[in-house]
Amino acid sequence: MKLCFIGTGYVGLVSGVCFADIGNHVICVDKNLDKINRLNIGDIPIYEPGLSEMVKKNVDVGRLSFSNDLIKSANKSDIIFIAVGTPTSNDGASADLSQVFNVAKTLKKNIKKSKIIVTKSTVPLGTNDQIDKILNGKKKNKLFKVVSNPEFLREGDAIKDFKYPDRVVIGSDDKIVIRTLNALYRPIINKGAIFFASTRRAAELIKYASNAFLATKISFINEIADLCEKANVHVEDVAIGMGLDKRVGSRFLRAGPAYGGSCFPKDTKALIHTSKKFKSQLSIVNSVIKFNNNRNLHIEKNICRILKNKIKNKNVCFLGVTFKANTDDIRDSAALYLISKLSKKGANVKYYEPTGKKDFFDKNEKVKYFSDLYDAIKNNDLIIIHTEWDEFKSLDFTRIKKNNKKVKIYDLRNLYDSKFFQKSNIFYYSIGRPLYA
Ligand code: UDX
Repeated sequence: MKLCFIGTGYVGLVSGVCFADIGNHVICVDKNLDKINRLNIGDIPIYEPGLSEMVKKNVDVGRLSFSNDLIKSANKSDIIFIAVGTPTSNDGASADLSQVFNVAKTLKKNIKKSKIIVTKSTVPLGTNDQIDKILNGKKKNKLFKVVSNPEFLREGDAIKDFKYPDRVVIGSDDKIVIRTLNALYRPIINKGAIFFASTRRAAELIKYASNAFLATKISFINEIADLCEKANVHVEDVAIGMGLDKRVGSRFLRAGPAYGGSCFPKDTKALIHTSKKFKSQLSIVNSVIKFNNNRNLHIEKNICRILKNKIKNKNVCFLGVTFKANTDDIRDSAALYLISKLSKKGANVKYYEPTGKKDFFDKNEKVKYFSDLYDAIKNNDLIIIHTEWDEFKSLDFTRIKKNNKKVKIYDLRNLYDSKFFQKSNIFYYSIGRPLYA
């Protein structure tokens, strides 16, 4: 099929490239000409393992191209995907839908043939009705068939998630459209994904409810982890035991710092905003947001306790600053909060990050980037393992001991067994285990 993806951000680019890889002809469009020029020479603007190779392969066989011309690209395509950003608005809660509506208005003005318009951007309940209204007005014979098709890709695992999803959700009540999208997703359905067609509004809510549920699951295990620290229990034992019950499920039960990233914080806030619009209470999601914000404070307090409340001039090294491994994304990463607080309290903060230096910290003179892991790990009072990158899973502790006098490690991802440190002069602290194990 001939597809056009409008927006080459995370969702648009990954989905567009993956659809080309399963045999479709795809044009990825962006209004940012510089980005398109870079994509055309194989310079990929996002960090996603495997994506660059996949772009090259599909451009070479002529199935994938990049363009700045929305109207020409949309005219050539059977299905047009809207995949532009829906960031949090200036009010700090609702989703800013201006980019989505601008695309709809441009399509309405310039496209005269019938098209399927698929919304992949994460949009609140009722948005596709508004898009439909922009595109079709009140006409009964609709030229544009508007469909909701939320994405569930995780950064760092996006290609795998695209090719082997648990489900594909399509929100539409048009049988022909559902059949067409079923055919488009057939290679993925054949590998085991469940194709679920619902109403458009349900599809919109499925996306937000799923993210809010996963955020709840993480916050829940984080709260249990706090109890474990006080009650001399290992949270991993609890998570494994809970997860063995298929009703609970073992995934997303890893205790750690506050969850972050481009989706959970933004989508939970937007869901609350939607619920208010419908005069409904989402008290659970509300308390998850509150708990997650407090989690940063809780971890900060633990760090202060570990350093015996003497933070000034202490050397603190962060291993990883991205919100999770296999991404270069620092949006809403707990490290941003923790580094800012510790540096304000007078700590000298170093950080090593496998995806390189982050401009975000440039203005903070108490924060220094190290491009070499073991240079960063020299002469510290505290090493904080913040992100679960593979290269932090087998650190050379002999070298660490040699290069640090009396160092403490605070492992926010529980990468190590605390027993390992029992006979060493490294003080090891982790999450949801007896605190001073
Ligand atoms: C998420 C959803 O998983 C995905 O379906 C949606 O499309 C976009 O949002 P992403 O933000 O890429 O994906 O990352 P994810 O792997 O879900 O992790 C989100 C946050 O939760 C990270 O901060 C991560 O460290 C944290 N997390 C995740 C935990 O703390 N514990 C876990 O068990 C799982």
